[in-house]
Amino acid sequence: MNHELLFAAAGDKTVTFALTGAKGGFARTLLAQSRVMPGLAPAVLCDLDVPGLHELCRELGFAESELVVATTPAEAAAAVERGAVALVADIALLTAAPYDILVEATGNPAVGHTAARDALTGGKHVAMVSKEVDSVAGVALAQLAERNGLVYTTADGDQPANLIGLHSWARLLGLEIVAIGKSGEYDLVFDPETGRLTQLDETIDAPGMAELLTLGTDVGATLAARAEAVAALRRSATADHCEMSVVANSTGCVPDVESLHYPVVRTAELADVYALRADGGILNGTGVVDVFSALRLPEEASFAGGVFAVVRTHDPVTWATLAQKGHVLSRDGRYACIYLPYHLMGVETPITLLSAVLHGRASGGGAPRQYAVLAGRADRDLAAGTVLTMGGHHHDVDGVQAVLLPAAQAPDDTAPLYLAAGATLARDVVAGELITLDDLTGHDEDLLGAWRDGLAVSRP
Ligand SMILES: NC(=O)c1ccc[n+]([C@@H]2O[C@H](COP(=O)([O-])OP(=O)(O)OC[C@H]3O[C@@H](n4cnc5c(N)ncnc54)[C@H](O)[C@@H]3O)[C@@H](O)[C@H]2O)c1
Repeated sequence: MNHELLFAAAGDKTVTFALTGAKGGFARTLLAQSRVMPGLAPAVLCDLDVPGLHELCRELGFAESELVVATTPAEAAAAVERGAVALVADIALLTAAPYDILVEATGNPAVGHTAARDALTGGKHVAMVSKEVDSVAGVALAQLAERNGLVYTTADGDQPANLIGLHSWARLLGLEIVAIGKSGEYDLVFDPETGRLTQLDETIDAPGMAELLTLGTDVGATLAARAEAVAALRRSATADHCEMSVVANSTGCVPDVESLHYPVVRTAELADVYALRADGGILNGTGVVDVFSALRLPEEASFAGGVFAVVRTHDPVTWATLAQKGHVLSRDGRYACIYLPYHLMGVETPITLLSAVLHGRASGGGAPRQYAVLAGRADRDLAAGTVLTMGGHHHDVDGVQAVLLPAAQAPDDTAPLYLAAGATLARDVVAGELITLDDLTGHDEDLLGAWRDGLAVSRP
C-alpha cells in the first residue's frame, strides 16, 4: 500500500468508524491511535460496560462534551450527527448512526456476526478483528459485502491481515510459497547463564537447552529434544489455530497437521525448519500454514508475534547475494524466509480503515473460501447436556481441543469450533471425537446459516 495515496485520497475527509467491544484490549490500541492521527475518528463506541468505556475515553483524552451515552438508535444517530461520539451498550443501537466502517472487536461469535451482517446490510464496510466470527462466517460476510458493493476485511496490525498481506506480496512476485505462519504469542527466552527458560510470566529449569541452541545435522531430533525441554509449558493456543484458519481461507494455504507443528525455532533457522522432509525439514507438503514457538536469548530481539513466509529460492546468484545481505536462507540454499517481526494491533488498523473506505480495498487477500475448518475434538469424555463454555484470554472452549483441518479432509458435518462455543451438547461425545453439527443444540441459528452459506460457495 502506498501510504501517500491514502493521504491524497483523504483530502479533507475524515473517515469515521463504529467500534464494538470498544472497552477491550484490542479496541484500546485503535482508539488511542485514532487520537493521534488526522483523517480518522470514532463515531459510535459499543461495549456492554458503558461506564468503563466512558472512563476509558476520558483517559484517552476525549472531552466530556464530546461523549454522549445513547440508549436508542435515534439518540446515537443524533449525537454522531452533531459531531459527538455516541457510547452505547448494545449493537442494536448502531444501526441508525452515520459512519463509514464498523470495526468488530467483541470476540463474541454470534454477537460479532450479527453486528457485521447488520452493518453490511446497512451500507457500512466492515473490518473484522474478531477472528472467532471470521472463522465461522467470514466467507458468507465477504459474499454479502461483495453483493452490496462494500468491503469486508481483516484488520492490519493483527496477524491474519499481516500474513495474508505477506502471502499476496510473495505471490505477486511469483515466489513459490512453501509455508506461511507466525510465532506464538510469547517467546521462549532461554538464559544460558542460569539454564532457565521463561515464557511470559512462567519460568522453568531447562538446562538441556544450552546444548540445543543450534539445529545440528538432525533437525527433527533437535526439535524433538527442544520440545521435550519445554514440555512443562503450554505453547499452543486456540487463538493461533483460529488465526491460521482465517489465513487459510484467504490464501488457500492449509495446515500440514491438525494440531499445527509448533516447532521451537530460532529466527535464523526458519528456512531450515520449514523445508520439506526430503530436504531435512518438517513439512509433508508445501503451501502450509503453521505456528512456531520463537526461541531466543534474553538479549535478542523478539519475533513479537510476527509473521513469516518461507519460499523456494530460484536463481542461486540472486539468493546468495541476498544471503550476504543478511536474509535468512536455509543451509542448503534452497529455501528463504521473509519475515515481519511485529504485529502492532490497533496501532496499524487505521491503514485498513482508510484503504477500505477511501479505496474500496480489503487488506490483503481477495474473496475468501472455506479452505480450512477450525474444528474441535473433545479432550475428555463429554456428557450430553454439557455447555461448551468459551473463556480465557485465548477464547478456549472448555473440554475441547482446537484443531485445524484442511476443508477437503473435514467430514461434511464438522461443527466449526466457534459455532460450538456456547452451545450445549445434544449427545455424549467421547474423548478424541470431532464435535459435529448434530452434536449441538442451543447454538446461534444465524451463525449456522452463515457457516452453511460459506460452505456452499466454497465447494466446487
Ligand atoms: N488483545 C489482543 O491481544 C488481541 C489482538 C488481536 C486481536 N484480538 C481479538 O480482538 C477481539 C477482542 O479481544 P480483546 O482482547 O480486546 O478482548 P477483551 O475481552 O479485552 O474485550 C472485549 C470487549 O468486548 C465487550 N463485549 C463483549 N460482548 C459484547 C457485546 N455483546 N456487546 C458489546 N460489547 C461486548 C466486552 O465488554 C469487552 O470490553 C477478539 O476477537 C480477539 O481475538 C485481540
